[in-house]
Amino acid sequence: MKILVIGSGAREHALVTALLADESVTTVICAPGNAGIAREIDVLPVDVNDANAIGDLAYELDADLVVIGPEVPLVAGAADAVRDRGIACFGPSAEAALLEGSKAFAKQVMAEAGVPTAMARVCSSVDEVASALDQFGAPHVVKDDGLAAGKGVVVTDDRDEALAHAAACLARGGDARVVIEEYLDGPEVSLFGITDGTTIIPLQPAQDFKRAHDGDAGPNTGGMGAYSPLPWAPAGLVEDVTARVLQPMVDAMAKRGTPFSGLLYAGLALTSRGVRVIEFNARFGDPETQVVLACLKTPLASVLLASATGRLASLPPLQWRKGSAVTVVVAAKGYPESPVTGDVISGLEEAGEVVGVSILHAGTKITDDGIASNGGRVLSVTAHGESLHEARERAYAALDLIRLEGSHHRRDIALAASTSQ
Ligand code: AMP
Ligand code: GLY
Repeated sequence: MKILVIGSGAREHALVTALLADESVTTVICAPGNAGIAREIDVLPVDVNDANAIGDLAYELDADLVVIGPEVPLVAGAADAVRDRGIACFGPSAEAALLEGSKAFAKQVMAEAGVPTAMARVCSSVDEVASALDQFGAPHVVKDDGLAAGKGVVVTDDRDEALAHAAACLARGGDARVVIEEYLDGPEVSLFGITDGTTIIPLQPAQDFKRAHDGDAGPNTGGMGAYSPLPWAPAGLVEDVTARVLQPMVDAMAKRGTPFSGLLYAGLALTSRGVRVIEFNARFGDPETQVVLACLKTPLASVLLASATGRLASLPPLQWRKGSAVTVVVAAKGYPESPVTGDVISGLEEAGEVVGVSILHAGTKITDDGIASNGGRVLSVTAHGESLHEARERAYAALDLIRLEGSHHRRDIALAASTSQ
């Protein structure tokens, strides 16, 4: 099987690694990829905003399966463009990817499906925002309706800051909208389900660390680290969320005539009043994928192909490795506000030799001086171990060997969970 992976992050590096380990796979090609992926397989340029360019590339390569990593090409219709050319694709249509592309749309489908989520109001003026903020009270939750690379959400006790974020989103004009929500208290869980539009198979749950700095301080980011599984998760969580959240969403999308096939990512809060959905994404999460795939024993390509071809119901149950995985993101100086790129990274070889560790690349490029940073999130240092404690020790031992001028990373990824295990 020849597979084309679209994207350039550590999520795609993790996908490529898992696909290469599958015996049914002969070739994996990535577009556009990054410096780490390019050391393992062929990478080709592609504009991820251009759905037809992705479809054409898949056709020229005669791919058997295309796996689309990021949300931007999905929302732009890349999966439709690939399928139009008669090629199997892992990823939802543009219409179905709206579950991620519009928070207001996702709320509407959740209401239809009876899925528990935060109360919310969709606002298109600052006056509406002010009244919604007062209705729900502090802490205030303000979300840009559209895609914002993980940076569209502000959670704050400061009403002026909440209003300012809403005003900035609305200032884009056109049909710009913001969603104001009730605040959900409680630990967060990311649960991924692989679906073919009818059947959905949950993966192992993970937890992401969204804030930039230790102790959950600082601004929201795309994700600074993750671990899986969750030793503290209540028994039956995965089955419960599959029955009450994932399957009803799949059924509701099918009923609308826009079936969702690909990866449905439920971002959940375990509140004192039960599980609530914070958001849906239409693709593998980053950095959670790095730890979930590090634990998956079942060959990945067979699962993604079964999703793309509507055969998930006939798949045997997924197998998982014993133990845990941790990933820590190395972010460029200034991330998330204004990342500085172009600095050379050293110590990558030594770090990659630490037992159980893979150095997954995100924003990296090859220069005459060596591998250099090329984005806000630069690396995702991922480790597997027999326990969370061991996985953490391995990840941080590798991280301490890596040098990137001005970079920062969190020291507390999976710390609380590993001490309670
Ligand atoms: P989202 O992009 O919707 O996942 O939001 C990013 C982050 O903001 C989430 O992971 C939460 O930490 C936080 N967040 C979003 N919505 C809420 C909410 N209703 N209550 C509390 N925190 C939230
Ligand atoms: N880890 C959060 C996301 O992928 O959106």
